[in-house]
Amino acid sequence: MPRIYYLPDEREVETEAAESILQASLRAGIPHAHACGGKARCSTCRVLILEGLENCNPRSPKEKKLAERLHFGPEIRLACQTRITGNVKLRRPVLDEIDVELTSQIEPGAAPSPVGEEKKIAILFADISGYTSFCEALPPYDVIHVLSRYFHLMGKVITRQGGYISDYIGDGIMALFGIEDPAGTALRAVKAGVEMLAMVEKLNPYLEMMYNKSFQIRIGVHYGEVVVGTIGVANMKKTAAIGDAVNFASRIEAANKEMGTKFLISEDTYNEVRDHVRVNRCCIHVTLRGKSGEYILYEVIGLNNQN
Ligand code: FES
Repeated sequence: MPRIYYLPDEREVETEAAESILQASLRAGIPHAHACGGKARCSTCRVLILEGLENCNPRSPKEKKLAERLHFGPEIRLACQTRITGNVKLRRPVLDEIDVELTSQIEPGAAPSPVGEEKKIAILFADISGYTSFCEALPPYDVIHVLSRYFHLMGKVITRQGGYISDYIGDGIMALFGIEDPAGTALRAVKAGVEMLAMVEKLNPYLEMMYNKSFQIRIGVHYGEVVVGTIGVANMKKTAAIGDAVNFASRIEAANKEMGTKFLISEDTYNEVRDHVRVNRCCIHVTLRGKSGEYILYEVIGLNNQN
């Protein structure tokens, strides 16, 4: 049987038939990170082959794609994608204390499982326009009072549409739709956005009465692929979505400022909801901060009557 010699562990493990290097590590109780669960969708299981590269199978198309993206040399291999036909000597990435703590929670011999799940969800970002000047005019306790009221109302709307508030960022809200139930995800997010705008109109008379002030909000929604996982420690753990789709949704929300709009959605979202929403006749071609190329966005002005 071919053997793997691990550094820095200085351990030798005999591989079993058709077993990947990652499976061999886990079977032998060697802590070996594998964030995507062995799907060639991350680089956490990478190893540096020091000797015996010729005994490793060629890269699979998935591994090749990732290696090109991250500019890996030929000697860096994904352990979950690599099987050997002769002895190899390798070095695992040196795990720091945090990695050791995280990977030691993996049961020895357990099958690789991902730390998250790839899902297509709708991501909604909402922001108060003119928040800074609003805050400046009020004592901090009053700002907290107003924000609590605002978050409470928005939370009700989001929950009613099956969404989940993943984060509060200052006055901003990030909500995810479709984590549990994928049915009508994009439409639920857009409905929530429309209702949030309406709810702010109901909130404003109160703010006018109390503070002689009112505000508006800006909303952006994108429907796309993310990895949903749990991050944080101990009792601070929360469900989070990670991926370019999240940044994209945030950029869409920010584009409202430049376009003078209140509610913009991506083309992918529009394609899902086009029969149910009313949008401004002209789509908007924009470049988005931090992203290359031009994107098409749609301004939502309401829902169709049958909704
Ligand atoms: S575990 Fe993610 S690529 Fe190997």
